[in-house]
Amino acid sequence: MLSQKENEMLTRVGPGTPMGELMRRYWIPAAFSHQIAAPDCPPVRVRLMGENLVLFRDTQGRVGLIDERCPHRTASMFFGRNEESGLRCVYHGLKFDVAGNCVDVPCVPQASEVQKRNLLSQLKIKAYPCLERGDVVWAYMGPPRHKPEFPELEWTRVPKAQRFVTRHVQECNWLQGLEGGFDPTHLSFLHRGDAEKNRNIVVTLYEVVPTDFGFVVGTGRDPGQGDILWNVNVMLMPFHKILSTENIPGTDHAVRNKHNDYLIDRVQQASGASYTGMKGLGTQDCAIQESMGPIADRSAEHLLACDAAIVKIRRLLLQTLQDHAAGKPVPGMRPESYRVRSTRYEAPRGAPFAAIMNERVRIDVPVAAK
Ligand code: FES
Ligand SMILES: [Fe+2]
Repeated sequence: MLSQKENEMLTRVGPGTPMGELMRRYWIPAAFSHQIAAPDCPPVRVRLMGENLVLFRDTQGRVGLIDERCPHRTASMFFGRNEESGLRCVYHGLKFDVAGNCVDVPCVPQASEVQKRNLLSQLKIKAYPCLERGDVVWAYMGPPRHKPEFPELEWTRVPKAQRFVTRHVQECNWLQGLEGGFDPTHLSFLHRGDAEKNRNIVVTLYEVVPTDFGFVVGTGRDPGQGDILWNVNVMLMPFHKILSTENIPGTDHAVRNKHNDYLIDRVQQASGASYTGMKGLGTQDCAIQESMGPIADRSAEHLLACDAAIVKIRRLLLQTLQDHAAGKPVPGMRPESYRVRSTRYEAPRGAPFAAIMNERVRIDVPVAAK
């Protein structure tokens, strides 16, 4: 269980919040490249880290991510005209380039050249640098002096044909997703019937190891035949997870959602063929994470021994927030530290976890592909 204050610290990611400021030190996925496929195509709305923004591709193909509010009289830039290397507000014609510079003020023809230059310099719109990797537009929303190199996430570096990019809107706070992704115990229950049989052995060994990219969660199952079955998942700062199981392709909005109770089949559930009566690992995760409310109240929990990994993850995140606030280095600033994969292996009981894990998760990503 966490205090209300700790829960707020970990879950809120808007501007000025501790977690929001920490996450803004990393490149954040903002949209698919295909959403702004061609130069001068229609802009799209993007809500990112509690900020309402507008994304567009200019005449030169450069990507801009700017505040949705026009700095003149706060009209929405979403309705703007994307033309001649900039997005023009349709209310009074102010135009902004991808860097947020105001490049035209056609509504004050009476202003002198000097006055216009002054106006242009004052009318900057908030803009975040973007780049495209792995068919995704990424934004950096942190202090310019801290902007890191783009992390070498494996899926962004493989050839396009080897990649499937998708997304799924989940109506709950990010930490519920993260905790659900690293919760070792739920596989034996929530996913029973869908997960592999040996996942029914309840996890009894938990390891959470901080690393230069984030942390590693190791969960050990003991089938009682000598070796421990380790399942090792990596968390790359600030929130990436690499699954060691096959991922289920989703859509933006799931057919099975909270408004239809995820199409739960009580007969299936009662029969034992499926522990939940819900179809698909992704649906099961989403259902249970959304069921905890928009932001789970972690001060109302009663944690058990099986939550050991979750407790360690929270402590680690709180510690990282403290380190960040104190100006100490944070993990994940070296692009090559992201060259890791989740993995599974068997190891003798009592073998040192950290050393074996470290050897197993590090990979050498072969080719950098655009
Ligand atoms: S509100 Fe955008 S130009 Fe006036
Ligand atoms: Fe799950």
